[in-house]
Amino acid sequence: MGKTSKDKRDIYYRLAKEEGWRARSAFKLLQIDEKFNILKDVTRAVDLCAAPGSWSQVLSKRLYENRTDEKNVKIIAVDLQAMAPLAGVTQLQGDITKLSTAYAIIDHFGGSEQKAELVICDGAPDVTGLHDIDEYIQSQLLLAALSITTHILMPGGVFVAKIFRGKDTSLLYSQLRIFFEKVSIAKPASSRNSSIEAFVVCQNYHCPKGYVPQMINSMTDDIQDLLNATESVVNREIIPFVVCGDLRGFDSDMSYSLNLNEDEKYTYHEVIQKPISPAYNEILEKLKNCSIKHSAITVQHKSNDKI
Ligand SMILES: C[S@@+](CC[C@H](N)C(=O)[O-])C[C@H]1O[C@@H](n2cnc3c(N)ncnc32)[C@H](O)[C@@H]1O
Repeated sequence: MGKTSKDKRDIYYRLAKEEGWRARSAFKLLQIDEKFNILKDVTRAVDLCAAPGSWSQVLSKRLYENRTDEKNVKIIAVDLQAMAPLAGVTQLQGDITKLSTAYAIIDHFGGSEQKAELVICDGAPDVTGLHDIDEYIQSQLLLAALSITTHILMPGGVFVAKIFRGKDTSLLYSQLRIFFEKVSIAKPASSRNSSIEAFVVCQNYHCPKGYVPQMINSMTDDIQDLLNATESVVNREIIPFVVCGDLRGFDSDMSYSLNLNEDEKYTYHEVIQKPISPAYNEILEKLKNCSIKHSAITVQHKSNDKI
């Protein structure tokens, strides 16, 4: 396959390189913002599961632009993996399922008086392809992101996180409604139709009376505690499902010709930021010292074997 074939197959991958974004995911956040205006007037934001950093790039661009009080802007990006530096963004390498990560973020904001106005999380585990397992692992990451958010988000703040839509989406919606006045499920046009990925956009955070922020791990903790600790119960509601982005624009599931229009000649661009320490490096290192070539396997039968 030639190196331009991905540019043909994935228009947002190509546009990301042309516009200087580290990943095509940048368009998802931009399209969510177009619809929900979540970045307006925000000065303190946390990007959970941020590597390689395209959402942080969007934050950096939008939070610093047209400001005279740039020193008040704080953006913290957290990921398990190391991320290449980004202007105006403080990076923390850490696991969002750990309480120590929540405390490290609070410290960076200068104490609990200065909480974040926006927490975004595009966290995704390595997908197995087994739908139920992927959905379950994704929901664990979301739970970790929500737990951390209850420590670091100021009242009235906004939380945006990736979800995999499945049979438990309405339960998830009800649980999020305990913490947020308004919850919507957004599907940006740049997120493939063929993917079960969507994003919860949770607005107007309020910590329910009696709820003490904690890091919940559904493997070891009784998740019912979370529900019991709250006094409000949300009745069945219709979940707002919002498609965002220009629907007459590019379809993320379609292939496009390399020459999108007659006036502009296609030029190939390298990716903006290659992963700095990808997991596959270990395999590449091991392959340097061994060979995966093998000789043909010969099966010998004894002469008196019955076939
Ligand atoms: C889809 S990528 C995020 C892309 C990013 N929003 C961007 O625009 O460049 C998902 C990220 O989740 C991170 N991740 C997965 N589990 C995590 C965890 N427990 N703590 C922190 N990061 C995690 C992965 O390392 C990966 O970088």
